[in-house]
Parts: sequence; C-alpha cells; structure tokens
Amino acid sequence: MKTIEVCLTPDLLHQYSVVEKVAVVVDVLRASSTMITAFAHGLDRLMPVAYVEGCLALQRLGYMSAGERDGAKVEGFDFGNSPYDVMNGDLSGKSLAMTTTNGTLAIEKAKSAKKLMIGAFLNLSALAERVKELNENTLIVCAGWKGHINLEDTLFAGALVSKLGDHFEMKGDSALAAQLMYNTSKDNLYEVVSQTSHAKRLKKLSAEKDMRFCLEPDKYDVVPILDSEHLVAQPS
Ligand code: MLT
Repeated sequence: MKTIEVCLTPDLLHQYSVVEKVAVVVDVLRASSTMITAFAHGLDRLMPVAYVEGCLALQRLGYMSAGERDGAKVEGFDFGNSPYDVMNGDLSGKSLAMTTTNGTLAIEKAKSAKKLMIGAFLNLSALAERVKELNENTLIVCAGWKGHINLEDTLFAGALVSKLGDHFEMKGDSALAAQLMYNTSKDNLYEVVSQTSHAKRLKKLSAEKDMRFCLEPDKYDVVPILDSEHLVAQPS
C-alpha cells in the first residue's frame, strides 16, 4: 500500500522526500481555493510566482495578474486573491500569473515532486479520486502562514486523509493529528475556522464571505496540476 503524509508547513518540507512523491499543495484561505475557482471558470493556465516582481514581469508579457500580500491586493494587479475576483473576471481562455504570501511559495518549494496538484475543500472529492488513480506515495503540503502551521490547511489535510484512508497507509503523526482535528471539527467547520488568525485577518479586509465560500466542499471537480511551469486543469 502507498503512503499518505502531511507536511504542516513548507518550512518542514526538508524532512520529506518530495521528489519521490505526488504533492498536494493546499492553501484553503485562499490561494488554492482561488486557483481552483479560476480554472472552474475557464482559465487556461496559471503561472504560480513566488515574488511580486516576477508577476509584474509576466503582466508586461500579456498575462493577467492576481495576488496579495498579507491578504491585500497588490497595487497594479488585475485581481486580488479572492475567488469572487476570478469568477467575475472573464478569465476564460486566458493565462494568469499569480503570487500570494504563502500559497505560491509552497508551490515553489514543492515543485520538484513527481506530480504537483492543488487542493482545497472546493475540489476535495475530485482531488481524492485523482490521488487514488495515481496511486503513488503522496504528501499533502500545507502552505501555513509564514512558516507557521495554520488550522484551516491542517483541517483540509485531515479531510483528504480521511477520504484516502482505505487506499493509503497513513504515515507519521501529523497525518493522524490532522485527521483527528478534522473529525472533531467537520460538523462545525465554519465556526472552528472563524477562530483562526487568518479568518481574523480576512475579517479586517472585509473578506469574510471568501472564507464561507472556500469551506464549501465539492463545489468544483477541477484539479489543477503543474505541467512544466504552469498549472493546468487537466494532466497533459
Ligand atoms: C496566502 O497565500 O497566504 C493566502 O492565500 C493569503 C490570502 O488569503 O490572501
């Protein structure tokens, strides 16, 4: 049986051999949720960029741009990091460059994986099916917040581990801890996540409705996958 592990923050990634694994990068609030929403609304490809300067350079080359620093839209970008921005942004058939405080950085750190996919509650079941089909040792990489763990990504990791439990062997106590936390929170996920530090940050930015949206399970069946440098909606 293949294994499923959870890396609770990208700062712990050196403890896992990501090159030998399928990586699922998750930033529930809000980068991975916004990416999934953009693809569900027709986006062609997305270049995840670690730094603002890289995103602006791609914008000059004709990409649309999206992203935030500390939650707030970056000046000069077309979109912020809200799922509502990209679903109303007419991104159909377009290329998007995106940079966020933690999410795109986690992708950058995990991109040596055998395959890299993007997960959030929005695509939970479709993602679980894709992971099962691939049937490789799998590592869930939580984006966290500036090197610290966060509860919302840990809860998502627990949800995905729960879906895969019969097909994969859980490896390491972080997978177990994530699953236990999810099991005690799943019936009141919104109330639990409302207490997190990022929920408080989003509240100050008047983005509470983003949080409610990002916690909706299985809204979309699209699974973004890294294909060379771009994320695409289908494996090539
Ligand atoms: C991040 O990458 O840190 C987040 O997506 C921040 C946000 O909610 O905008």
